[in-house]
Amino acid sequence: MTDALSERITPAPLDGSKRTWLIATSCVGAAGVVGLATPFVESLEPSEKARAAGAPVKIDISSVALGEIKTFAWRGLPIWVLHRTPVMLDSLKTDTSMLLDPDSKLTGLPTPKYAQNEWRSIKPEYLVLIAICTHLGCIPTPKLKAGPQPLLPDNWPGGFFCPCHGSMYDLAGRVFKDVPAPLNLQVPRYMYTSDTEIMVGEDKEGKA
Ligand code: FES
Repeated sequence: MTDALSERITPAPLDGSKRTWLIATSCVGAAGVVGLATPFVESLEPSEKARAAGAPVKIDISSVALGEIKTFAWRGLPIWVLHRTPVMLDSLKTDTSMLLDPDSKLTGLPTPKYAQNEWRSIKPEYLVLIAICTHLGCIPTPKLKAGPQPLLPDNWPGGFFCPCHGSMYDLAGRVFKDVPAPLNLQVPRYMYTSDTEIMVGEDKEGKA
């Protein structure tokens, strides 16, 4: 997906069947993002399809370079892993008055306790999010670079932009005020299984 609003995705409610449809017909494009241009789940290998159907998935986060974001699959959903730089992390400490729920207090899509911090993650450098806009279910576009750019405010801190109706999220997936999306991007249950691997869909041990 480019910056152009003309590449809108048809909004869909966030129920399971529509969400699957949405993912199968949506695409994400940005530097470093694994493309979803072909039907998302259908493009997976058989073993990956089984995992996408519901089982927890292991993700090798060492494959995500510093400053890069990649998309993985879990339960038919796109999962982002963003490897944040120190500059990106610093951007989360600046003025949060433009954010609707900077401390992840809203419970519509509860943030796991281990991610109820300014980074919304277990380890600050790795952000793990479900890449579904909390308005009507489009897949936002990563806009990781800070600063003025088309369709975004001049003081853009870096984050995610949903082209469907203009919702904006910061680099922790925290939603801006006065946009259609009512909630922060959802943090899935996850845990570290080693220094370089996470398990998405399970957090029984919750070790970091
Ligand atoms: S679906 Fe409406 S702003 Fe994202």
